[in-house]
Amino acid sequence: MEQTLIILKPDAVKNKHVGHILSRIEQEGFNILALKKVHLKDKEAKKFYEVHKARPFYKDLCKFMVSGPVVVAALEAPGAVEKWRKLIGATDPAQADANTIRKLYAESKEANAVHGSDSEKNAKNEIKFFFSKDELKGKL
Ligand code: CMP
Repeated sequence: MEQTLIILKPDAVKNKHVGHILSRIEQEGFNILALKKVHLKDKEAKKFYEVHKARPFYKDLCKFMVSGPVVVAALEAPGAVEKWRKLIGATDPAQADANTIRKLYAESKEANAVHGSDSEKNAKNEIKFFFSKDELKGKL
């Protein structure tokens, strides 16, 4: 079994797509290990996306991620990292395959509805970033 960290971004929450996306997650066979709604602080968004610090979109991305609440979840499934990335589609919804979450719900490259960890190692760190030991007790 593998875990991945997902974020339903401010656009998905604002546009009331949370229910549809969570339903799709269950339909696709993921187990939801942990789930919560949070409003990131500027410092937290900057830390979470630190890996993109040198990129031209970093500042705007962080600003967007604190513009409203997000829903974060730790999901589990065989090959969860790749399974989720395949389900959400390309970063730019214009390039995403039909029926992927970003094709269905994303507005743009920045407001692209969802985030997913890009490796098993990063998934572990990202899950720890959002969920305490207590919240994950006995689940990993
Ligand atoms: P995410 O999976 O959360 O990881 C990094 C994010 O950076 C990505 O989704 C996009 O929302 C954002 N991103 C990547 N490339 C660009 C870009 N060229 N312009 C704006 N945002 C981008």
